[in-house]
Amino acid sequence: YRKAAASTGLPTFLLAGPSGGGKTAFTTLTERGTVVTTHTSIAPLQIEALLPDPHVPASSHYRSPGDPAFERSRRFIIIDTPGHGKLRNYATSALAAPKNVCGIVFVVDAAAIDEEAGLNEAAEYLHDVLLSLQKRHTNAKTSKGPKDIPVLIAANKMDLFTALPASAIKSKLEKAIGAVRNNRAKALRDAGSKLTGEDDVDEEKEWLGEGGEGSFEFDQMRQVGTNIDVVGGNVSQGKNVGDVAGWWAWMGEHL
Ligand code: GTP
Ligand code: MG
Repeated sequence: YRKAAASTGLPTFLLAGPSGGGKTAFTTLTERGTVVTTHTSIAPLQIEALLPDPHVPASSHYRSPGDPAFERSRRFIIIDTPGHGKLRNYATSALAAPKNVCGIVFVVDAAAIDEEAGLNEAAEYLHDVLLSLQKRHTNAKTSKGPKDIPVLIAANKMDLFTALPASAIKSKLEKAIGAVRNNRAKALRDAGSKLTGEDDVDEEKEWLGEGGEGSFEFDQMRQVGTNIDVVGGNVSQGKNVGDVAGWWAWMGEHL
């Protein structure tokens, strides 16, 4: 994406998630208020938008519409990234240096989560996003720690009858991320013992969430400054605009 646009200093939401989830559809809906035909993204897309009515930025709760500071606070940037497995470096490099990033919107297809392949793909990608947020927090040099970055799991395509409800998406993803975490740790141990003949690799910093034998829960990410919400929505409804009010409300809370 263009460097010039990136330096506006506006708060930025980074969109990530598997291919086909609806990131570009949501980006264009937020920018233009209409549903357009999308194609799988091969490069990131950066747009500037205004938080749509009636949503109010949290920073402006006590300001009135028409106040220039209120209008300014509604402006933000969305960076839409490609979800294809080979193109995720766009999202991960933005995560490595998250300048002005005030939130991550991880878009998933709520119907695809009901199938094992779709669930595992989303869980692996989300695991890696959360692990880089955790590392960013753990590696921070300042005593205050870096700015908190919240994550919205936008469970899209709720118009499909096969879509799972947000509560099921949450528990399925937590469980699948727990399995990814175990597999990664085992792979590290195997690789480590081959190298050193021992199994004392520094696994700790590659382990997402709390240590121990317990299961992974999104709430564990609070300790590293990341609050996670799962909210259902649908960008489209047939050829018409669907309902993503819950996502815009979440974005407003973080503006
Ligand atoms: P990549 O660019 O490959 O990472 O995918 P993406 O996340 O940008 O997905 P995109 O926005 O291109 O949407 C993928 C497909 O899902 C498109 O055919 C959209 O029309 C469709 N789609 C998006 N939102 C919805 C929705 O709410 N309901 C339904 N039924 N289809 C949707
Ligand atoms: Mg796209």
